[in-house]
Amino acid sequence: MIRPRRNRRTAAIRAMVRETTLTPADLILPMFLHEENSDTPIESMPGVTRWSVASLVREAGKAHALGIPAVVLFPKIEETLKSPGAGECFNDEGLIPRAIRALKAAHPSLCVITDVALDPYNSDGHDGLVVRHADGSLEILNDETIGVLCKQAVSHARAGADIVAPSDMMDGRVGAIRGALDDAGFTGVPIMSYTAKYASALYGPFRGALDSAPKEGDKKTYQMDPANAREALREARLDEQEGADILMVKPAGLYLDVISRIAESTPLPVAAYQVSGEYLMIRSAAAAGWLNERDAVIESLTAIRRAGASMILTYFAAEAAAWLREASV
Ligand code: PBG
Repeated sequence: MIRPRRNRRTAAIRAMVRETTLTPADLILPMFLHEENSDTPIESMPGVTRWSVASLVREAGKAHALGIPAVVLFPKIEETLKSPGAGECFNDEGLIPRAIRALKAAHPSLCVITDVALDPYNSDGHDGLVVRHADGSLEILNDETIGVLCKQAVSHARAGADIVAPSDMMDGRVGAIRGALDDAGFTGVPIMSYTAKYASALYGPFRGALDSAPKEGDKKTYQMDPANAREALREARLDEQEGADILMVKPAGLYLDVISRIAESTPLPVAAYQVSGEYLMIRSAAAAGWLNERDAVIESLTAIRRAGASMILTYFAAEAAAWLREASV
């Protein structure tokens, strides 16, 4: 008889026939920070903390020591610094540039990735500049936003960011940011583009963490419709043509088909973002005793790798890295 179970009989055989690997080197840790001297547990994301710059440096060092190569930074900006023009996002003395410099000074081998988008800086809470038309409707301006994003990306590069990651979903921003970085002499700074970022219900806890929810309206005129997969291939093609170095799909777990299709259609590395709502679904079910957290986390990350992602942004990065370093997994 043909018996597939023969290849599953012992742990050693299972290890040899395993098709997908998951290691700490595949993980990127998203980190929240604020302009305060103390650290604040984030109510909407149990187990996640908003750090002072000093604590951020310490915690990033711990994650790096576990084998995690990179962090992505998300700032909570003080209300008084927010404005319709989001000018604080390219202040070279702002929170993010100072955090980049502190991280790079303390941990030169850590890859520091920054988020390029206006929502934490914008009094409207949108990823782009907002205009209100005479009929009362809101428009998120595309081309005007790009100019600000370019300044933001160059400011991050100037502070020492290793990779910039535009998450705003404006059309044409990857090409424009590439041009701005090159013109400023940062030809070696890669762009990790949020290529297929969906207008997802799963970002709710994140917006709570940064107080960055849109004040009015939603993000459906720029983030993608969850019903569409072929459209993601169009975004991927454009980002490639515009010079992106890494393509990202977000969220991850509900969009494995999109990860898989993009991975098959591009020679570029693919990243996937296991977002705050995905984190919370596992975290809260585990906290209630309804599922085994460690097994669920490893399985969810393995599935994202199996779909075709080279790297995964996940709030579980440090815990997963510690588990993966134990021989028994
Ligand atoms: C905003 C941004 C968001 C996330 C990352 N960058 C939220 C949004 O688009 O509203 C969400 C991440 C998460 O939910 O974990 N530029």
